[in-house]
Amino acid sequence: MIALKSVTKHIADGRRKIPILDDVSLFIDKGEFVSVIGPSGSGKSTLLNILGLLDKPATGNYIFAGESVLGLSSGRLAAFRNQRIGFVFQMFMLLPRMNVLENVELPLLYSSLSRRERRQRCKEALDQVGMLEKTRQRAIHLSGGEKQRVAIARALVNNPELILADEPTGNLDDDAKHAILHIFSQLRRQGRTIVMVTHDVESARIADRCLRIQSGRISGYDFEANPTASVASAASAASAASAASAASAASAMLQNAAAPTDREEARP
Ligand SMILES: Nc1ncnc2c1ncn2[C@@H]1O[C@H](COP(=O)(O)OP(=O)(O)O)[C@@H](O)[C@H]1O
Ligand SMILES: [Mg+2]
Repeated sequence: MIALKSVTKHIADGRRKIPILDDVSLFIDKGEFVSVIGPSGSGKSTLLNILGLLDKPATGNYIFAGESVLGLSSGRLAAFRNQRIGFVFQMFMLLPRMNVLENVELPLLYSSLSRRERRQRCKEALDQVGMLEKTRQRAIHLSGGEKQRVAIARALVNNPELILADEPTGNLDDDAKHAILHIFSQLRRQGRTIVMVTHDVESARIADRCLRIQSGRISGYDFEANPTASVASAASAASAASAASAASAASAMLQNAAAPTDREEARP
């Protein structure tokens, strides 16, 4: 369903080009759940943002359901993302002053559905993540685990062909993490196509297969890697850029939304 072919991405540092993704090719079948594991700074979020059409590679090709998508105009890209891709971020990226139902409804606001149909879809999505009891609660008053459930419902509400999750359990305690992984396991059983980025082996293992990334290169498929080895050294360098790119990714996803994402909310 998805094919990336020889994708590269780099950043300019003066006259030097620093590679972020280096000749990455991958295929993901419809209904597959693939995890991508690698240390901090290895290019996971960049890869996911390219898959989610939030970022463009310098070179390479991206085929989504038979369609070459890198040449789409920005208007068509926004519509494509809105209808065909659901995003889940580490920082949840909810609108804090809106309630649960309003947050989940956001991707539906550009559809032709009636208000009643939208509400019905939201309730179905919230039911899947066990949040039907809290539809009127403001996002700011939810726990981290609850916020992530709502974010997953928002990702599901348009019934997208592809679900992308960037470290969805990275900001959660163990109990909340296991609850979220359980939801992803259920989505897998429903036959959803999912790509989940993580640096956590336990999370990666719930997928059908795991793709390992190291220094911007796909270095193998397995579950036995020890990806935490170089986390500490890379973490500080990567964190500032990653936070900035997550925030811009989220605002692109929510573009045309009623209010901008609250940066306060985005902090861990
Ligand atoms: N917009 C950017 N500006 C500068 N450097 C960036 C930017 N986005 C990513 N990087 C750098 O690219 C590398 C990969 O980043 P990222 O994809 O966020 O890695 P990961 O998600 O695996 O931690 C890191 O070294 C990061 O600092
Ligand atoms: Mg990242």
